[in-house]
Amino acid sequence: MIGVFDSGSGGLTVLAALRETLPGRRFTYLGDHAFQPYGPRPPEEILERTRLGAELLFTQGCDVVVLACNTASVLALRALQETWLPLHHPERRLLGIFVPVVETLTGRVWRRDDDIVDPRPRFEVAVFATLGTVHAGHFRREIEGLLPNVRVHEQPCPGLAEAIERDEDPGRIATAIRSHVADLAARTGRIPQRVILGCTHYPLVRDAFAQALPPGTEIIDQARIVAESLARYVERRSRVPTPLSADEGDAYFTTGNPDAVARVVAGFPGARDAARWARIAEPIAPRTK
Ligand code: DGL
Repeated sequence: MIGVFDSGSGGLTVLAALRETLPGRRFTYLGDHAFQPYGPRPPEEILERTRLGAELLFTQGCDVVVLACNTASVLALRALQETWLPLHHPERRLLGIFVPVVETLTGRVWRRDDDIVDPRPRFEVAVFATLGTVHAGHFRREIEGLLPNVRVHEQPCPGLAEAIERDEDPGRIATAIRSHVADLAARTGRIPQRVILGCTHYPLVRDAFAQALPPGTEIIDQARIVAESLARYVERRSRVPTPLSADEGDAYFTTGNPDAVARVVAGFPGARDAARWARIAEPIAPRTK
């Protein structure tokens, strides 16, 4: 069984792509709605919440947990993989959604000591993400570190994931997106031709991004890339799955209020009705606020 974790409902975009790419697998989703948004939270708190989320999914029987949240992936994944996982769950896997995107963008398999010079001409890419992801600076550091011919411009969109999660008026969301695009243009002089929506909530308002960006801008579909990369990983490492019909046996957990979550996500891809959402059996106890 594959676990999918997000700070809230944005990871449903990744779950929907995973379900399409890996039919026959069972998924368990956990949204830490009681603690969203992660974007403005201190890194140590995001690390702790992510560890607890992964622990709960392992307890539910997941062998692999995907952090379907960029903020959690950039701030917690490496630390958890290097220290916590080998000690507490050496037989389980914790994967992020950041590496597959970097690999796709650079056309290269992730290798830390790679110093081969990319022969392609210089190109620029923009990343729209939460405050936490942008402050961490991982997208820029990792892509530019791997490929010196790529220039990354990160644009924070404070409040956007929260507005999507609240199902705010589309007109207000579109205005906010136009102003983030204008901020980026003001800082960089022009909008790069390739754009990553670096928060799993943003594909839910992809059309508003497409309208705010210059025509012809390529918007990189993170959910699809992650699903394909995970499919390759799972196929390499595990047994043939027992055939299941669409989403049979999938489970949806939240640390928040299941009814409220079901109402908000009603229009999201991969959303399920209130009857399918449950508060996680042992709610993650707030440690810090
Ligand atoms: N969906 C999360 C991400 O991909 C973040 C939203 C939040 O701030 O909680 O970054």
